[in-house]
Amino acid sequence: MEQLLDAAKAAAEHAYAPYSRFRVGAALLFADGAVVTGTNVENASYGLSLCAETAAVVKAMGEGMRGGLQAVAVHTPDAEQISPCGRCRQVLLELAGQDGSDPLVIAKGTGKLREWRLSQLLPDAFGPSA
Ligand code: THU
Repeated sequence: MEQLLDAAKAAAEHAYAPYSRFRVGAALLFADGAVVTGTNVENASYGLSLCAETAAVVKAMGEGMRGGLQAVAVHTPDAEQISPCGRCRQVLLELAGQDGSDPLVIAKGTGKLREWRLSQLLPDAFGPSA
């Protein structure tokens, strides 16, 4: 998990966040050991900005990943705490729900590490298997 958090930290260095100045990196760990990272990518039309977790899921699914999601790490160097936004929770579930996995989600800002299962972050969810 420490390694996965390091991957999220490294990803955060590539964050494109000129509007919020809030840099975020995410790293997804798959059952075969593959790690896919993402960063937030903001837009001059603010509402079009993408979160790091969503960017990572789009990258992974675009590379053919379907399920096997074991863990998600999120990091920001710009706040004490962070947790995935509601939209990202639902986007993560689309990937995790492909094979019914319930990934560990770990998140760290400059403060303490926090962890949950995705099912805790999104209870009674509406997912791909409904
Ligand atoms: N953001 C993420 O990328 N992930 C999160 O978990 C929370 C928020 C981004 C969206 C936006 O670019 C910036 O952080 C400020 O909200």
